[in-house]
Amino acid sequence: MTRAASAAPEKLRLQRYLAMAGIASRRQAEELIRDGSVKVNGKPAELGMSVDPQADRVTVEGRRVELARERIYLALHKPREFLCTREDPKGRRTVMELVPKGAGLLSTVGRLDYHTSGLILLTNDGELAQRLTRPSSGVPKVYRVKAARPFEPEAAERFRTGIVLDGRRTLPAKLRVLPDRSGIWYEVVLTEGRNRQVRRMFEALGNRVQKLTRVAVGPVELGRLEPGETRPLTEAELRKLKGAAGLGEPVARGRKKGWALPKPRRTAPGRGTSARSRRVGDPMTPRRQRRTRVRKER
Ligand code: URA
Repeated sequence: MTRAASAAPEKLRLQRYLAMAGIASRRQAEELIRDGSVKVNGKPAELGMSVDPQADRVTVEGRRVELARERIYLALHKPREFLCTREDPKGRRTVMELVPKGAGLLSTVGRLDYHTSGLILLTNDGELAQRLTRPSSGVPKVYRVKAARPFEPEAAERFRTGIVLDGRRTLPAKLRVLPDRSGIWYEVVLTEGRNRQVRRMFEALGNRVQKLTRVAVGPVELGRLEPGETRPLTEAELRKLKGAAGLGEPVARGRKKGWALPKPRRTAPGRGTSARSRRVGDPMTPRRQRRTRVRKER
C-alpha cells in the first residue's frame, strides 16, 4: 500500500499537527486552542506554537492526540449494502470489514450511501481527508447511473445550473448519456458530496436511480477493482490528489505558485540511472524529453 514517509517531521505548527491527526480542520484547531481545550506537555497551548511530534505530549480535552506513524492510502470498491461507518447499531456490514488487517485505523474520505457501490478512498491522513471533502476542493467525482427513465434534453442544463436541495442550490454538475449499454445509463460528475446527492437530483427532476456506482474520485479511477477489493494508491495518484487538496509540495527554487512536478534526474541520461529508467538505445519518451528540456533551461 502507498505508505508515505513518516508523518512525523521534526516540528509542526500545532494547528497542522491537530489537522494531520484528524482531530479538526486547521480553523477548528485554532478555536480549540483559543478556548483552552489543547495542552502541550500539560500546559495550555498557544496559537502559533510548534510541537515536536516525537517529544511533545499533546492533549485535547484531556485525551492524548498522536500522529499515525505512517500514512496509508487505499482505494476500495465498496459493494452495495455496506455502510461507510465504523459500526452500525443495526448490525449492517461496514466497509471497515474490507480493510486489510494491519492497515490500522482508517477513515473513509467522504461517504457512499448504503445502496451505492464503487470507489471510496480510505486513509489515516486526517488532513488530506478533511481537505478532499470540502466542497471548495472542487475534486470531481464521477458516477455511473442506471435510471428508471430517460431525461428530457434540458436535464443536463438543470444539472449545470444547479438544483435546489434542502434550500441550497447544488454546485454546477455534469450529466451525459452513456450510450451502448442495456438500459438507460448516465454519467454524472459532481464536485461536492451532499447526502444522497445523485439520487436526490434525479428525484428532483422526476426520475429515479436504479443503480449507482462511483467510478472516479479526481485522479483515482475504480478501474478493474472488484467489489470488496482494495488497492494502494499509486504515488502519482497520491501526488495529484494532494495537489488537488492544496497539499502539494511547493516547487523549489523560487517558484511561488503551482506544485511540485517529479524532480528531473540529475544524472546524465544513460549514465548512472537504473536500467528501468534509462536503457541505452531507449527512445526518449515525451516525459523524458520534457525533463531534459527543463534541465537545459536552467
Ligand atoms: N450520490 C448518491 O446519491 N449517493 C452516493 O453515495 C453518492 C452520491
